[in-house]
Amino acid sequence: LGHTLHVYDTLDSTQTKAHELVAQGAQEGTLVIADRQTAGRGRMGRVWHSPPGAGIYMSLILKPRIPLQFTPQLTLLAAVALCRAIVRIARVPVGIKWPNDLLIGGKKICGILLESSAEDERLRYIVAGMGIGVNLLPDDYPPELRSIATSLAIEAGHRFEREVLIAAVLEEFEALYKLYDEQGFGPIRSLWEANSASLNRPVRVRTAQGELEGIAESLDDSGGLNVRLADGTMTKIFSGEVELR
Ligand code: BTN
Repeated sequence: LGHTLHVYDTLDSTQTKAHELVAQGAQEGTLVIADRQTAGRGRMGRVWHSPPGAGIYMSLILKPRIPLQFTPQLTLLAAVALCRAIVRIARVPVGIKWPNDLLIGGKKICGILLESSAEDERLRYIVAGMGIGVNLLPDDYPPELRSIATSLAIEAGHRFEREVLIAAVLEEFEALYKLYDEQGFGPIRSLWEANSASLNRPVRVRTAQGELEGIAESLDDSGGLNVRLADGTMTKIFSGEVELR
């Protein structure tokens, strides 16, 4: 992965560029990187703050041989890959909040956005977008993000070479992607659980159907979160926002 690189100074979003490159015939493993984004996209229609020089903004094109319904598993795979790369390079305590936010001390360090394109029931390709706060300092964040976001420089107390971190992410991603191809989701699920900040914790989940509270107990085979409610019953969450309580 990442042997074909497209590097830009400024893009609206590396996601948009990656979709364009697929339309032009880009192969699996093609990576798009930008120094800054003018319209970085987050999950749920949010904006991803992408100032120049300080963050990693990249999108990886994947063409996995899996049915469309398994794409959430790849989101979890991406979270594990990023988590392992960040711990290895920055030696900071990162945990994954379901499904794929990476947190340090409750603050977000990294965001993942998977966009897929399907034909019928078959998956055509996935663009895995990853944003990492690397060298941002507190003043680089708009006030509303200061209490909820952090960077590796803030947490570790020194700057990091973005190239080193990008190489580590690709290495981890490639190893897990191969493992997933050969052995399925089982080993990925174990690694996700081992790096989780959500499991065995009281959580509040906001879904389209409303809010619920319980204890996050495990990850299910398709990547959903099993939450034990106060009355002892178990419910599965497939999409929603989890708040650690
Ligand atoms: C989230 O909401 O947590 C996901 C954020 C994903 C941000 C990355 S930065 C690189 C790629 N390009 C985008 O426009 N978004 C993703």
